[in-house]
Amino acid sequence: MSQDLWTKVDDYINGVAVGTDAALEAASAAAAAAQLPPISVTPAHGKLLHLLVRAQGAKRILEVGTLAGYSTIWLARAVPPGGRVITLEANPMHADIARANIERAGLTGRIELRLGDALATLPKLAAEKQPPFDFTFIDADRTNLAEYFDWAVRLSHPGSVIIVDNVVRKGSVIDASSDDPNVKGVRRFNDRLTADTRVTATMVQTVSAKGYDGFAMALVL
Ligand code: SAH
Ligand code: DHB
Ligand code: MG
Repeated sequence: MSQDLWTKVDDYINGVAVGTDAALEAASAAAAAAQLPPISVTPAHGKLLHLLVRAQGAKRILEVGTLAGYSTIWLARAVPPGGRVITLEANPMHADIARANIERAGLTGRIELRLGDALATLPKLAAEKQPPFDFTFIDADRTNLAEYFDWAVRLSHPGSVIIVDNVVRKGSVIDASSDDPNVKGVRRFNDRLTADTRVTATMVQTVSAKGYDGFAMALVL
């Protein structure tokens, strides 16, 4: 079992489940050309988000961490007419590339990109009395993961779904003595998740072209 095999199988799965997709491929190419980190969700994981949104009938989506808008495009394509994705991004360069990718995908009318630190934007969304979000994808820095999740729950309603990316991090999540701020951030989130009576949750390990990782899924009660 090796990264080489995981990548080959990932390529195969992406071919079976997604195939060619001009807007998504253009978004990936623009991200690569701008030398953004290659950390967008994989095609198959993007489609998983898309299918979860459709299966749930979610109309209002919140995303924390836009990067080049690759996952944002998958999410926005899943909402019905009148649906909306609000996506939060701190890096202006990432936001510019995402806006161009979203425009090229014909989704500008459905997506609202809020530039700024999500730790500041999330309380603003609450203060604005935004209608609750049906579905949230958290995929930004891990140090503040527990806070992002707490806001996501507060901005949800019973029945909302929250997906949190990168909660396994090559297995390092089980290292209680790790000094890595990302690992500490994920562990702090996981510890709180167990005790959080507002949700019921699980975690799924994944392997892909991006390595060994996993995501958490929470249902708001
Ligand atoms: N969801 C994207 C990938 C996001 S990568 C996809 O799958 O296509 C993580 C992004 O979170 C980066 O663009 C980074 O700039 C952003 N980010 C990091 N810290 C942040 C913060 N505090 N507030 C908002 N965005 C942040
Ligand atoms: C990293 C971030 C991600 O969101 C991801 O899916 C994979 C890796 C990272 O920062 O290393
Ligand atoms: Mg991620």
